[in-house]
Amino acid sequence: MVKHKVYCCLPKLFLCFCVSLLFIGCKSNIEPNTIIPFPQSVSYTGKTFETKVGSQFYTNLSGKEKDDLSEYLKASPLALQSTDAASSARISFDIVSTIGDTLTVDGGYSMSISNKNIKVEATSSAGIFYAVQSLLQLANIQDNGLVTFPTVDVVDYPRFEYRGMHLDVSRHFYSKEFIKKQLDAMARYKLNYFHWHLTDGAGWRLQIDRYPELTQKGAFRPYKTWKEWWKADRHYCDENDENAEGGYYTKDDVKEIVEYARQRHITVIPEIEMPAHSEEVTAIYPELSCTGIPYTTAEFCIGKEATFEFLQNVLLETIDMFPTEYIHIGGDEANKNTWKACKACQKRMKDEGLKDVDELQSYLIHRMQEFLQSQNKKMIGWDEILEGGLAPNSIVMSWRGEEGGIKAVQQGHEVIMTPGGYCYFDSYQDAPINEPEAIGGYTTLAKVYSYNPVPEEVKDKAHLIKGVQANLWTEYIPTPEHAEYMLYPRILALSEIAWTNPSNKSWDRFHEKALKEVDWLQANGYNTFDLKNEVGAREGSETPIDHLARGKKVIYNSAYSSQYPAGGDSALVDGYCGDWMYNDNRWQGFVKKYVDVVIDLGEVTPIKSIKTEFMQLAGPWLWMPTEVVYSVSMDGENFTELTKIETQTSPEYELLAFETYQWEGESEARYISVYAKRNEEKTGWLFLDEIIVR
Ligand code: ACM
Ligand code: ZN
Repeated sequence: MVKHKVYCCLPKLFLCFCVSLLFIGCKSNIEPNTIIPFPQSVSYTGKTFETKVGSQFYTNLSGKEKDDLSEYLKASPLALQSTDAASSARISFDIVSTIGDTLTVDGGYSMSISNKNIKVEATSSAGIFYAVQSLLQLANIQDNGLVTFPTVDVVDYPRFEYRGMHLDVSRHFYSKEFIKKQLDAMARYKLNYFHWHLTDGAGWRLQIDRYPELTQKGAFRPYKTWKEWWKADRHYCDENDENAEGGYYTKDDVKEIVEYARQRHITVIPEIEMPAHSEEVTAIYPELSCTGIPYTTAEFCIGKEATFEFLQNVLLETIDMFPTEYIHIGGDEANKNTWKACKACQKRMKDEGLKDVDELQSYLIHRMQEFLQSQNKKMIGWDEILEGGLAPNSIVMSWRGEEGGIKAVQQGHEVIMTPGGYCYFDSYQDAPINEPEAIGGYTTLAKVYSYNPVPEEVKDKAHLIKGVQANLWTEYIPTPEHAEYMLYPRILALSEIAWTNPSNKSWDRFHEKALKEVDWLQANGYNTFDLKNEVGAREGSETPIDHLARGKKVIYNSAYSSQYPAGGDSALVDGYCGDWMYNDNRWQGFVKKYVDVVIDLGEVTPIKSIKTEFMQLAGPWLWMPTEVVYSVSMDGENFTELTKIETQTSPEYELLAFETYQWEGESEARYISVYAKRNEEKTGWLFLDEIIVR
């Protein structure tokens, strides 16, 4: 069935007439507005262009660029064939010096599909490639080889120059074929940087000829999953060991992947972690650590010159493999205490006049930046590289929120935004009680879509925000299917916030198209999250619940934590329940305390039910109360116990759990006391959201 969207007001009869004509004249079942990321300007003109799989196209590109395009189109579902006879091809892709005198942004293109031909113009081969992606998304290919497109005029260009996807291949190793498959999807959504997290404590994944043991030993462990390895001895093993799990990419693999990416206008940025997240290196080369003893520290010793020699040698081979102008040196999450206890590090600090360990880390980062610059490379690092002073010409990836990014922009540095709350796809994407175990956090498709990578604070320096990136850390993602499940469809939202101008964003349109795109992804072998059956927000977290205690006064006999106050004194009776995560500003947290609160209903009121819900999550030490006691009082001094409810949730249960503690009966009260005892054997938190009285 054809659906038509009518955007203007016309007299009803005339409208019916037009719609009938459209139904008769239209052979395709394509709906308008079906491109992700949504173009800057798109106008559908209501007709259809028809062609066949295997049709001819013409391009004025030449040499390698022409070969790349021809190969890509030939292998695409349209199977287009290149011809040199411009006049005989109804489909053309041409490089021009400017488009309508305006469109010169790299990657920009114009595409006009009439009922007679398809005409693409761009100022770069990247622009032509992105037009091809739009075309592929618009194509309706039938089993008999007939292809139809809606007629449309598109003028399009990216909002950000950097549109990235990151993949951690250390915590779990993924095959070369898997990487290529993800590069295919990146291309479809016009993403252009693949940030390859190749080294970390759980395994070194890059062949380095000078240090063969990095991969012979550091790429394997006698445990299949990161979790098993993490809970056990965190040791590595020889690649030939019977139980060896893991793997690495050879130089030939890297060459193949880099070339595959290049053909899709994707740049591969390697990340070599330093000075932390390097347990696999210090286990094999303990002389590079402060202790000199394997399996004792994740940090390189910054006092020893051997560290610099090693890192520079590794970087030289890395640079040889990756033609990109960018190298990522990590820089995150160092345990700087290691350096406080090290003689060599202390001597370095003294010799270089470094006042603290932040400056010591910054010393290493500065040296690495100088080294990379001497190799004509630009350095990227996680936002910790700001600590102790940011090296010149370095690019900051802001992951601990936006603060690092804002600070770096204010210092005149370029920034890539990857704030955890929006861009970390290792978090839950739907109700965590139904999802496979994730590291934590709760980032729905809608949340990713809501993100604007230019913070208000630096709006006037927006040109320094190079772009935005999604990160997939894989501690809890042991299989390639699971990795795809976490990426899709969230990467679609990332692509739209990276490409589309905010004024053109529409959640409803995006969501509708994303549902179809999920079907396409599944039909093409991707294991996606089941978007059409998304559970969504927890009941009561979006629309308030009306009940007798709502808006009434709460007397706190024990204080909530200032870290998790939710809405403060009114949080437990504001009508809103919490969503799926404790840090959503609706759940109120009590640390190392009982919950002891009294609600003043204002007058004696008949009551039939009291209900509270608590949350348990072992990771951040949230536990169920051992029991919850409800009591009532007329004067606020003499209380009568209504019930004492013991918990049903085992403290051994590690995943997210919710438990409702409910009393039902007949009573009267002006004051209601809620008293929840904490588990004395478990240091940590009690979290509750709403006390619902009926
Ligand atoms: C990071 O997530 N440690 C950059
Ligand atoms: Zn040291």
